[in-house]
Amino acid sequence: MLGPVILAASRSDRMRRLISAAPVTKQVVDRFIPGETVDEIVPIIRDLSDRGLELTMDVVGEDITRPEQAAAARDAYLALIDRLKELELGTRAEMSVKLSMFGQALEGGHELALANVRPVVEAAAAIGTTVTLDAEDHTTLDSMLAIHEELRKDFPQTGCVIQAYLFRTEADARRLAESGSRVRLVKGAYKEPAEVAYQQKHEIDKAYVRILKILMEGAGYPMIGSHDPRLISIAQELARTAGRKLDEYEFQMLYGIRSDEHLRLAAEGHRMRVYTAYGTDWYGYFMRRLAEKPANLRFFARSMLTR
Ligand code: FDA
Repeated sequence: MLGPVILAASRSDRMRRLISAAPVTKQVVDRFIPGETVDEIVPIIRDLSDRGLELTMDVVGEDITRPEQAAAARDAYLALIDRLKELELGTRAEMSVKLSMFGQALEGGHELALANVRPVVEAAAAIGTTVTLDAEDHTTLDSMLAIHEELRKDFPQTGCVIQAYLFRTEADARRLAESGSRVRLVKGAYKEPAEVAYQQKHEIDKAYVRILKILMEGAGYPMIGSHDPRLISIAQELARTAGRKLDEYEFQMLYGIRSDEHLRLAAEGHRMRVYTAYGTDWYGYFMRRLAEKPANLRFFARSMLTR
């Protein structure tokens, strides 16, 4: 019951100001967003990579309101890519981007987001790595998928995310699987109405399995974005049945969540990529992590009260 309330708060400017200013917030935020600057995040990248993990890097930020913020987002990713070049990790460290941070919701936003994200995809390709377009709320998806298709004409390795909770996703998955795309499948983290999305966990889980089967049997590269132990073992089974080798799909999890499982899957020989977010505009990302697990909220509330 708490999840939808927290997700509503994740879009409230008043709550953003209140929570971002609370002195205790930082300690709790650090669990999920382990740095604010490129200098702070580079040692984390090295450490995860040394442990046999791969990464997808997210500069936190979304729902910007001015074109200059979109240009700043592009520049932040370009600065990150400059540092990744020195680390020579290739596809072991890729980028995840949210198009709402690149201006998608502004006037002429579709073109603006494409114009801002293209140099990031180009720079990533120049150092031998890739970019994946995150999925945001359902109203943004047609634009995201069209930008993905456009970018793939020059950079076929560009990936995208699809969300199992949306009714439309099975059809999207079929199209993407046929075109041979890299696709991350997640359950979905936004507050979506019953007209477009399953609301019950068991319905979302069942849809996840149906969609994953489509991806595993298709021509693309499935990326399983989930911490759910049941779905992870089903994914392994589906990969086996589809005859996929260990390097023909990968698991992805978020930094700070089930870290032992990251290492366990990597030790089993799986490609395991950790979605690692950093930056100062962490509010929306952090609130979605609270919404996913009410225990996180209790911990957060307790730290506020015991100060
Ligand atoms: P589920 O929520 O059932 O969790 C399974 C178990 O994992 C829980 O029982 C708990 O142990 C642990 N867990 C999950 N979330 C936790 C949390 N916040 N704190 C502590 N423990 C937690 N969504 C989206 O809409 N667009 C996107 O682009 C992405 N991108 C993305 C990338 C990657 C790599 C991942 C792993 C996830 C996303 N998501 C996302 C988020 C996704 O939609 C979903 O909200 C979360 O992954 C939680 O769902 P699970 O599949 O982990 O299952």
